[in-house]
Amino acid sequence: MSSLGSIAATYFPPPASAAPAAGLSLREIAQKRGITYGTELTLPMLRFDKISEIIIHEAAMITPGVEMKWGVTEKTQGVRYYGAADTISNFAQSNKLMLRGHTALWYRNLPKWVPPLLENSSGMALLVDHVTDIVRHFKGKIVEWDVVNEVIEPNDNLPGGMRNWPPFAGGDVGYIAESFHAAANADPAALLFYNDYGFIYDPERSTSRKTAALNLIEQLKKRGVPIHGFGFQCHLRAGVSFDANGLRRFLADIAALDMRISLTELDVSDARLPRDIPVRDKAVADHAYEFLSVALEEPAVKRLLTWGITDRFTWLNTKDVRKGDGASRPLPYDEDLNRKPLWDAIARALNNAPQR
Ligand code: G3I
Repeated sequence: MSSLGSIAATYFPPPASAAPAAGLSLREIAQKRGITYGTELTLPMLRFDKISEIIIHEAAMITPGVEMKWGVTEKTQGVRYYGAADTISNFAQSNKLMLRGHTALWYRNLPKWVPPLLENSSGMALLVDHVTDIVRHFKGKIVEWDVVNEVIEPNDNLPGGMRNWPPFAGGDVGYIAESFHAAANADPAALLFYNDYGFIYDPERSTSRKTAALNLIEQLKKRGVPIHGFGFQCHLRAGVSFDANGLRRFLADIAALDMRISLTELDVSDARLPRDIPVRDKAVADHAYEFLSVALEEPAVKRLLTWGITDRFTWLNTKDVRKGDGASRPLPYDEDLNRKPLWDAIARALNNAPQR
């Protein structure tokens, strides 16, 4: 490229709504803007060569859907099993994909023996030990870790909008602070994230959730807790409107707390759409484009991960969100592993994003 060409590439934003050059993968389109595109996967997906190929082609980062959750890694107390997660980690390593850890601590998908122990005074030590062990096991292999997941729930009416969970019983976020310290000690190079949902729709509810999340991050920062990023879950709902300015402001407020942002878990529920597939796929794509073109304006947003790559494997179909009216189509590839309009929408939004 001539020096004038490289100056132009650096200083001029792409024309509004430009289509990306043909033949590029989401990984390549994102990388041109300084953004990482990635996807969630689960082990059963890797049994299909074609799905593995698509992931290797499209993604620069992967994250396991269930394999790192406590309910999988320590079903029996004291017997730790990282085999499934190791397979995913090895897949990442051999294909030069970055790995995102999900998740060290979550109130769901716990082994049966854990909840009763969280009620007593040794609960904190148990959490810290668990976080330490899993983060240490993957030391050096994980670029960013969701250290804690889904810790606020303003409907629980507790101080700060925190979720009613035994570790928070004393009304203090100490269990979160301790988890981050444990993770930082176990892998000092990993970027440590708090990941949560419910900031997009339903103005009243999302306002209280935004306030709770910002307060929590501010408190942790004030205490000197090593927290580096916020995972903004993007479970989108086609057919539901959202407040674009509210979204801009929230992402800017998070960034102002010296946090990087990863857009995590993107999928688009088509539960409110008609059955007709072309109509549905277009509405899903349009909604994702509308959301992403706002969210990707924020320069602190460095990664975008979809929660799966093909409609063949999506948690939404385990929930029958369309209530018997056809399978859900929330992801960039369809069940037969063909690209859908959602793929084009993500590609276009990434291509139009400002340079990082
Ligand atoms: O693999 C077993 C299978 O052998 C067994 O026959 C079957 C019977 O229920 O269960 C299968 O495991 C299920 C697993 O998904 C398979 O992918 C678990 O029951 C089921 O609980 C698990 O659900 C996962 C859920 O988190 C709970 O861990 C979903 O896949 C996963 O997509 C979902 O992800 C969450 C994020 O972590 C946090 N944000 C919300 C998101 C969606 O709920």
